[in-house]
Amino acid sequence: MRILLISSSYNGLCQRAHVELETLGHDISITLALTPDDVRKGVTFFQPDLIICPFLKEKIPEDVWSKHHCFIIHPGIKGDRGPSSLDWAIMNGEQEWGVTVLQAAEEMDTGDIWAADTFKMRQASKAGIYRRELTKAAIKAMLQAVKRVESNSFQPEPLDYSKPDVRGVLRPLMKQTERKIDWTNDRVATIIKKINAADSAPGVLDVIENQEYYLYGAHEESLLQGWQPGAIIAQRHGAICRAAIDGAVWISHLKRKNCVKIPFYKRFLSHDKQFDFKLPAAKVLGSVLNETSHAPIDPLFMGKEHTFKEIWYEEKNQVGYLHFDFHNGAMCTTQCRRLLESYRLALGRPTNVLVLMGGSDFWSNGIHLNIIEAAENPANESWRNINAIDDFVHAILTTDTKLTVSAVWGGCGAGGAMAILAADKVWAREGVIFNPHYKTMGLYGSEYWTYSLPKRVGPVKALELTETPLPIGTKKAKAIGYIDEILSDDYEEYLQQVWQKAEALAMDPQYESLLEEKRNIRQKDQRIKPLAAYRAAELQKMKINFSGKFYGGEVNYHEARYNFVHKVRPKETAAYLAKHMRLDAAKLSELRQPLAY
Ligand code: COA
Repeated sequence: MRILLISSSYNGLCQRAHVELETLGHDISITLALTPDDVRKGVTFFQPDLIICPFLKEKIPEDVWSKHHCFIIHPGIKGDRGPSSLDWAIMNGEQEWGVTVLQAAEEMDTGDIWAADTFKMRQASKAGIYRRELTKAAIKAMLQAVKRVESNSFQPEPLDYSKPDVRGVLRPLMKQTERKIDWTNDRVATIIKKINAADSAPGVLDVIENQEYYLYGAHEESLLQGWQPGAIIAQRHGAICRAAIDGAVWISHLKRKNCVKIPFYKRFLSHDKQFDFKLPAAKVLGSVLNETSHAPIDPLFMGKEHTFKEIWYEEKNQVGYLHFDFHNGAMCTTQCRRLLESYRLALGRPTNVLVLMGGSDFWSNGIHLNIIEAAENPANESWRNINAIDDFVHAILTTDTKLTVSAVWGGCGAGGAMAILAADKVWAREGVIFNPHYKTMGLYGSEYWTYSLPKRVGPVKALELTETPLPIGTKKAKAIGYIDEILSDDYEEYLQQVWQKAEALAMDPQYESLLEEKRNIRQKDQRIKPLAAYRAAELQKMKINFSGKFYGGEVNYHEARYNFVHKVRPKETAAYLAKHMRLDAAKLSELRQPLAY
């Protein structure tokens, strides 16, 4: 079928829907719902058999939904309506939640139901649930709905609140008054629930030292305590720990309210260093935290207590598992340096295999664009950051005492999608989406990708992947050799598989010869072209990007980064997504009846 995806942004769910539908052989084009006319243009030019809206905040024009099969993927159980579905589900402590595929209708979320699925809730941020449980259920329901359209015989279910399985209700937009933390009464569990329900957007509005901030990234603390609820009692790696009536809670990120947005072209003229985007809490608070004590943590933390930790390590049956769960998968200079230190310590442990586990939502998304944007000199900070991440990747590439594995549960993009390739083996959860390209950020890229990527997929595919900034799913990734194994989409099953496979590798009777073979290949490759030469050539081009000049693209890095960090909506859907814009409109109108547009 010809399927048009209409989405508010090309977010993770839209990318996954795109990849899954294309894998099934459907012809897909995408239009962002920037204006009603953009939507109409997409429909008129592409003439879809079916429209699917994976993530839509805007209303679809009536002349579109009334003339086409148009599905809305709604992040709620049957009968749920409104713009804060997941927020309410978390806030109300729902044990089970779901996704419904609805026919678009005049009144939002009231159309006939084409498919639905449910999932068990877990304690995590709204974005975390969206990326894991909700995305999995949404894709399953969407594919079922598509099949039902193809069958031509399915009768969708009208929304009927008298049915016992229609348990949802219409709920309004959740307001800050409903999210507000009452530090003198709320227990740790409530504070975490409130922050989770608003994370990653809009955040919970709170006051610190007479200034309003949005709070993000809540983590329970099991040792530290303070006497005055709400008081900041410690800081660690950019996060702050605040006392509660029954313990303490870490908050990793803040965004200041009421900041004046400085346009891109004026940013060098402004001396106002109050940033209107999310940053590590300690960085935002600055001098307010001068007196707050640091709470150190072991670089190879192996404890079981609850606390704020970005890097931790586990070990079992000759296998080490290094976790690095950086917020949004973004890795700043100091995070990369800490990760390198932990990696080296993990190498010193008596194990045969080291598995790089990444984080729960992302393995890595490369250099930290928010921290760079907030730096005094973004070009210099970009340089430090890319070198720090390269040092980490270099350490993996040159590890000759163990076999290494990248176990990819969360997605990865740009530098992160290249860094996974430094390990000897790459295993990924079935639903992972990879974005192995830098072009949209106006960068040539480093992380030794010019060595690792062609080595795995060959030079032609490497060019294809980096030149067309499209996501790839695991089936294609495995078929072209980008990854080695596809693992389960169920977290518990996935973990079991990682453990079993890693232990089997560690205890392989051929282990020593596998290690020997790896050393030989590295030495041979080094003789042909040293790793330093790859890095130097990549960084030379990155230097050009950082200087604000273009290298092999039309995107200015500083402007692209500004737009990304400030969430500036694009003016139009990118041509590589909007296939319909590339079609010859004249030819198309010869072939098909023109629509009223
Ligand atoms: N630096 C800082 N923040 C980053 C980031 C980075 N490198 N990559 C992602 N993020 C943040 C996003 O701003 C967003 O923040 P929010 O949820 O708090 O608002 C969050 O991570 C999720 O990103 P999003 O774009 O919504 O996720 P996605 O699954 O839809 O898309 C990517 C994933 C990787 C395609 C996309 O995030 C991306 O293009 N990131 C930039 C990658 C990059 O260019 N890195 C630098 C070059 S090495």
